[in-house]
Amino acid sequence: MTLLKVNNLSKKYAEKYAIKDISFEIEQGEFFTLIGPSGAGKTTLLRLIDLLEPPTSGQIEYNGWSLQTLPKKKIVHARREMGFVFQNPVVFSSTVKANVAYGLNFRKLSTDEIDERVQSALDMVGLRGFEERKALTLSGGEIQRVALARTLATEPNLLLLDEATADLDPTNVALIEKVLKKFNKEKEVTIVMATHNFFQAKRLGDSVGFLMEGEMIEIGTTDQIFNNPSDKRTEAFISGEMIY
Ligand SMILES: Nc1ncnc2c1ncn2[C@@H]1O[C@H](COP(=O)(O)OP(=O)(O)O)[C@@H](O)[C@H]1O
Ligand SMILES: [Mg+2]
Repeated sequence: MTLLKVNNLSKKYAEKYAIKDISFEIEQGEFFTLIGPSGAGKTTLLRLIDLLEPPTSGQIEYNGWSLQTLPKKKIVHARREMGFVFQNPVVFSSTVKANVAYGLNFRKLSTDEIDERVQSALDMVGLRGFEERKALTLSGGEIQRVALARTLATEPNLLLLDEATADLDPTNVALIEKVLKKFNKEKEVTIVMATHNFFQAKRLGDSVGFLMEGEMIEIGTTDQIFNNPSDKRTEAFISGEMIY
């Protein structure tokens, strides 16, 4: 089943296109990585999908709903099925537990259910026992795992990640990659992950989109993009020839 359908999507800031006439589809349960050099438009594309800003033209369909023409109530519904993890997440000065529960407070859940979801999310990211720690006393990697737990606790159907491991040490990168893989395989959560690190895309993605200067240069299976790219620019990027 197609979960996400992007049709001729463009986003213009001042006179410049950050996203230029992009079309592609993502299946339910797919792990899609979005690669490309800095400034390619990865963050912009994720923000458009998450409805954080409107496109200049074109449409996005989520689950068969056209997000640009959907009534407000349905928009809230669609957005609740999406989770977004940023490169530099914000944590509040409260406890780890309060930080992870944060996204659940708007969802009319019982205290028991909130506790259960917080526990299970902290388990997933390897932070059991950290409940009462002040979030601001954690390391960068732990903070990113709290942010991931906060998003996982909302049980998203579509998980959007923007360079979520870019500033982390290898141990935390490995841990987060493992959680993402597990979440994707066991819960069939669809993942769209932007990364400028093509090794990471190679490790994680079922399929890959290569974005450059706002254009989707090439989309394919991970195997095809890395072993048999059809565009010279993709080849330059994944061979490390392209400096960015
Ligand atoms: N709010 C904004 N206002 C003006 N230009 C922006 C804005 N956001 C992004 N851009 C521009 O859009 C282009 C794509 O940026 P971005 O999506 O952040 O790329 P990436 O995430 O791949 O590094 C860049 O040229 C960037 O400067
Ligand atoms: Mg970015």
